[in-house]
Amino acid sequence: MNNGLFITVEGPDGSGKTTQLDFIRKYFEEKGEQAIFTREPGGTPISEKIRGIILDKRNEGMYPLTEALLYAASRAQHVAQVIKPALEHGKTVVCDRYVDSSIAYQGSGRGLGDSVTIINTFAIDGCIPDLTILLRIDPEIGRARITGARDRMESETEEFHRRVYEGYLELERSYPERIKGVDADRPVEEITAEIEKYLDAALESRHEF
Ligand code: TYD
Repeated sequence: MNNGLFITVEGPDGSGKTTQLDFIRKYFEEKGEQAIFTREPGGTPISEKIRGIILDKRNEGMYPLTEALLYAASRAQHVAQVIKPALEHGKTVVCDRYVDSSIAYQGSGRGLGDSVTIINTFAIDGCIPDLTILLRIDPEIGRARITGARDRMESETEEFHRRVYEGYLELERSYPERIKGVDADRPVEEITAEIEKYLDAALESRHEF
């Protein structure tokens, strides 16, 4: 049984996840709550190696299904080695991207649909987030914010990123209890204030058990 609180942060490329994750880190520090911060693809040495393969721009010939399986493989290792043990010990885990990224990017973006959910059922081994913050930003605006070299995913077409975004919005509609969409095209303080509300509610509901 999982006792810890599992929070994930999602959004299109350039949605400002890093800034908001810094805020979430400070939030837990100030509450005196120990929280583990991790990311996907990555979070373990093996998963980070898989990340290197996935994001390498030289891997132009990667098939969509290969990509989906690599993200899921990286996730399976991460869940088994880090996320599940931490939750079982009652720890709070905050993850920068998780299975919703696969559903949005590989399911909607690449058009693989439901097969992505099926593959990931094995990878996540029952670890479903208690709260997912979705930073909502139009992909065009988000991508304009990206500076520096673009990785294999960031180099994808405008249409691909538009489909990813639609996939996220559909997820938000399907799981309104778990996924909280936050308009990320606003001043940072307004975004953090809204996220804080959701974190407070998540902590409160955990204390009720
Ligand atoms: P990363 O540099 O972590 O991007 P960001 O800072 O925007 O989170 O690269 C991760 C990329 O991989 C990002 O473009 C989203 C994509 N991705 C998927 O396509 N599927 C997945 O399951 C995950 C976890 C990420």
